[in-house]
Amino acid sequence: MAFRKITIDDVAWFSSILGTNFVHTDQEHIERCSGDQTEDLRYPPEVVLQPGTTAEVSSIMAYCNEHYIPVTPRGAGTGLSGGALPVHGGVALDMKRFNRILHVDKRNFQVTTEPGVITQELQEHLKAEGLFYPPDPASKGSCFIGGNVSENSGGPRAVKYGVVKDYVLNLEIVLPDGTIIWTGANVLKNATGYNLTQLLVGSEGTLGIITKIVLRLIPAVKHDLTILVPFRSAVEACAAVNAIFLAGYTPSALEFMERDALEWSMKYVKSTGVDLPADIAAHLLIEVDGNHMDELFRDAEAISEIVAGFDIGEILLADSSEQKNMLWTLRRKVGEAVKSNSIYKEEDTVVPRAELPELLQIIKRLGAEYGFQSVCYGHAGDGNLHVNIVKGNMSDEDWNVKLTEGIRKLFTEVIRLGGTISGEHGIGLVQKEYMDIAFNATQLAIMKQIKNVFDPRGILNPGKLFV
Ligand code: LAC
Ligand code: ZN
Repeated sequence: MAFRKITIDDVAWFSSILGTNFVHTDQEHIERCSGDQTEDLRYPPEVVLQPGTTAEVSSIMAYCNEHYIPVTPRGAGTGLSGGALPVHGGVALDMKRFNRILHVDKRNFQVTTEPGVITQELQEHLKAEGLFYPPDPASKGSCFIGGNVSENSGGPRAVKYGVVKDYVLNLEIVLPDGTIIWTGANVLKNATGYNLTQLLVGSEGTLGIITKIVLRLIPAVKHDLTILVPFRSAVEACAAVNAIFLAGYTPSALEFMERDALEWSMKYVKSTGVDLPADIAAHLLIEVDGNHMDELFRDAEAISEIVAGFDIGEILLADSSEQKNMLWTLRRKVGEAVKSNSIYKEEDTVVPRAELPELLQIIKRLGAEYGFQSVCYGHAGDGNLHVNIVKGNMSDEDWNVKLTEGIRKLFTEVIRLGGTISGEHGIGLVQKEYMDIAFNATQLAIMKQIKNVFDPRGILNPGKLFV
């Protein structure tokens, strides 16, 4: 059954449920909800709805399901795989009014929050209570926690503390037919039936609308220490990552930046904070954290000795909070910096950590073969390398055809190394054509059947995950 276009009667019905203030068809709202941070893609919805309660979401879903109207849920629009793009038009379900932290349960180290809370604001709120929610995607200052759950986001701290899935205990969701359910229980252990909670985490808004989130928390950590290590060989920098773990250290962040990544980021934020000698090919940004500063100094010292076994330049120890913030800003802004430079595609490869040096070599070899320039950076401690492919002088033909082949080849190699095609950005729209590399027909059929159980009419975030 084909989707139905939105009519004036639909808009009137939505207004009767939400009030006219929260139903938008004007250019400004349509434009805002047409894109996210994925390349320069634009897909306008026909109407933007801003519900404020679970009951309203339920009414909207039941109506759209009945009338075959596609619904694309949307958080803050910081996604990198096109998950929030309304590729079939219809309703953009803007969750920004779900912006309340509902309950901090300090006794049990849990928080119940709505999905439209900005991740960093949630973290700061919890920190003031002595609590810690670690996952810290680069966009933490603007992304929503609901989007993080939908994409199973990661970030630098994942290497020590895990990703979003490791913190989600329970979710309230609205199914496509309007039914409201909780997926689990607010407990730390749960061996009761299928794990619906984890099925929803990372489901990219294709199975249900998340309206409440219960997260597990840990005690706040008192101190951290950051060092920046320059390497003369990028492949050696990748090899050093594993050497640190093999020596028995688990940093709270272990990030890799190719020279271009750092250089472009410095230009973008107009920073001169890091000295970048001509012979430096890459950096590792390493953070250790804990409750005792003297231990952190000892760990940083030990890690410095390990990396000194490689061909490195002078290690920078961030000795003020300003310097530390400067280094982290440079790291977090790499994506934006690349974007400001050229049309680009961002890949989110992940391999078993020890295979990282080989992955980097493969990327550069394929770049030479297929004529693309890549800027690589990311969460080396997790074996998660972001590969930003810049269009630069590539012809449209090469960009659209030859590059697709090159990316296919890259993903095939990633799978051969025991990895997968997205570590934290999701599949969404832009990676779905490569899903057959990561999964065989049986695996894909199981996933499609799951989608069908939740959303038999296929109205929820259509056009994502599967071709
Ligand atoms: C980062 C985002 C792009 O790590 O995942 O900067
Ligand atoms: Zn990342």
